[in-house]
Amino acid sequence: MIKSHPLTSKTLSIPNIGAAAAAALAIITLTLLIVTHAATQVPMTEAEVAVRDQTSVIDDPQASAGQALLFGSAAGVPTDPGGGDDDGEPTDPGGVPVEPQQPGKLFLGAAVEPDQLSNPQFTSTLEQYKFTSLTAENAMKFGQLQPNQGQFNWGGADAIVNYAQSKGMRVRGHTLIWHRDVPGWVNGLSSEQAATALKTHIQQVMGRYKGKIAQWDVANEVFNDDGTLRDTVWLQKLGNDYLAQAYTWAHEADPSAQLYYNDYSAESGESGGSQAKVDAVYNMVKSLKERGVPIHGVGLQMHAQGGYPGSGNAIKANMQRLGTLGVKAELTELDIVDVADQAGRYAEYGRACKEAGNCTAVTTWGLYDGHTWRPGMNPLLFDGNFQPKPAYEALTQAMGL
Ligand code: XIL
Repeated sequence: MIKSHPLTSKTLSIPNIGAAAAAALAIITLTLLIVTHAATQVPMTEAEVAVRDQTSVIDDPQASAGQALLFGSAAGVPTDPGGGDDDGEPTDPGGVPVEPQQPGKLFLGAAVEPDQLSNPQFTSTLEQYKFTSLTAENAMKFGQLQPNQGQFNWGGADAIVNYAQSKGMRVRGHTLIWHRDVPGWVNGLSSEQAATALKTHIQQVMGRYKGKIAQWDVANEVFNDDGTLRDTVWLQKLGNDYLAQAYTWAHEADPSAQLYYNDYSAESGESGGSQAKVDAVYNMVKSLKERGVPIHGVGLQMHAQGGYPGSGNAIKANMQRLGTLGVKAELTELDIVDVADQAGRYAEYGRACKEAGNCTAVTTWGLYDGHTWRPGMNPLLFDGNFQPKPAYEALTQAMGL
């Protein structure tokens, strides 16, 4: 089934030039960012920029009005949760693989929709090839799980978790906080009610899958390209310290889960990526760690097109820099639009993960070209008939699988 994505039909703006301030440490780095596509780069077309910027510009026209990121102590957020689980290492996974069975072996993942798991061609491809991890492409987003306050739809998420368990595959939970897929009822809440609603959502969702979902994207895409916090309903209602609160609640809900932050344009500062965003993510993780707020990893989305999101070496260096903070990294949503050397690009990014030292998985955003959020671009490892493309062999070999 080919799904069209709303962004393909919307008017786009091109935010390649951004400037904003954010301070270091307690206040993140003050950076004046001018992102230009230098002569050495393949210029991005409007469609490419759309893919790069995905949801933000389109869904959130005020995105650039973000605020400076402040991670001061907030009431209710302990500065040191005191547990032994905040050291970046996973704890009791409850029987579900959290780390590769063989030390150093990377997970290969795919994003899936629940209905795909009743297609035998789909599942036999997952099972015949080297997939060991699944992400819900949509089924675990806020609005999918709790469309009305207090009314949870578990069917799709359950189907993915049950299938993964039956095959011994790991699950990445995606995502508790996002500016998209926020149901309308959230808008009507007071600040206090919104905080309670988010906490309840995290408790319900992570509680249901406690020990079954190895890692969660607690927050997804909360930064603007200039490194400031995106102006979202969660920021507006909960305030600047909402990430510290959310990660603390998430850790309480399932102490065995690895807590990730996930974003795009934060893979590297090269080729249309944003160094300001790379730094904002780094500084946010550093600040949370310094305060004892549990965070264990960073997901780099990797929706590649043209030179974006940078060379394997630049991405590897970014992951290693995050590693100095004691966190892991994963390539969480990799897809590479059909280019002459698609296999070579897949190999380059697989190698970056293999060599980084703290990178534990590569997940592709879909399994086969018959179902992708980038329709017509053939960005995945299997073709429309579930046949492996050269990219599959290239990626798995580079990952050492
Ligand atoms: C996309 C899904 O693939 C689409 O089916 C849906 O319509 C919109 O969301 N970054 C993310 C993912 O973090 O959740 C997005 O997934 C793709 C971009």
